[in-house]
Amino acid sequence: MAAKIIDGKAFAATVREQVAAHVARLKDEHGITPGLAVVLVGEDPASQVYVRNKGKQTVECGMQSFEHKLDASVSEAELLALVEKLNADPAVHGILVQLPLPDHMNSDAVINAIDPAKDVDGFHISNVGLLGTGQKSMVPCTPLGCLMMLRDQLGSLSGLDAVVIGRSNIVGKPMAQLLLGESCTVTIAHSRTKDLPEVVRRADIVVAAVGRPEMVPGDWIKPGATVIDVGINRIPAPEKGEGKTRLVGDCAYESCAEVAGAITPVPGGVGPMTIACLLANTVTACCRANG
Ligand code: GUN
Repeated sequence: MAAKIIDGKAFAATVREQVAAHVARLKDEHGITPGLAVVLVGEDPASQVYVRNKGKQTVECGMQSFEHKLDASVSEAELLALVEKLNADPAVHGILVQLPLPDHMNSDAVINAIDPAKDVDGFHISNVGLLGTGQKSMVPCTPLGCLMMLRDQLGSLSGLDAVVIGRSNIVGKPMAQLLLGESCTVTIAHSRTKDLPEVVRRADIVVAAVGRPEMVPGDWIKPGATVIDVGINRIPAPEKGEGKTRLVGDCAYESCAEVAGAITPVPGGVGPMTIACLLANTVTACCRANG
């Protein structure tokens, strides 16, 4: 039987509606407008697209958007000064510094300069520690979006075998922590994992976040498993014409969809959920800041 397609685009639209309703109540009942500051350093085209989308969706939900675009040659000290200014600004409830930063910057130092209460990415070391110890934290947006889709699909995740392929700080590690928090039995697989196909075949839940186009074939998937594909990879598509490209995930969609119980498509799966969760985190930060 073919897998159910998990429609992340529709799910994200529902989350954004809930965010917008919450924002409207905050304005009407408390006179507060949540604000999100996004900082982009340099001209990376993919980052520019992400930042533009974040700003647009922030405004569409009724929140204030503050965009700060800095030249790639800006010094780390200047960026840190901007972060300090945003930390002190009461109209700013969430701060996101778009990654990657230019090579001359220490990303950890910049992220850890953000007030943890305004760290809507959940990357600050305090939030990482809070999540790892099961305490209230800001939760990274992509793993949070994946978890929302998994809960919606499966209900309770308790006792399920979950494999997270990829050990990045942005997705793999926090995803594993969230699944552990749901009482899954969690394996984090990576490039050195022995017999990856066998490890993946045991899993009721597969989260692929490695950035390798179509790396996971259908015959690695346990029949009926839920597959969450975080990868967004652009590959050549000569069938569409000379020089054309298309987006694919980390899973070979067609063959995985034949075996899985449910699967997220690329595009239209995890991607839209990430920004929706960023907006939700900004409202959460605003509510916590205002008691
Ligand atoms: N670059 C790619 N994904 C992300 C993200 O989730 N947050 C930030 N800050 N930068 C990114």
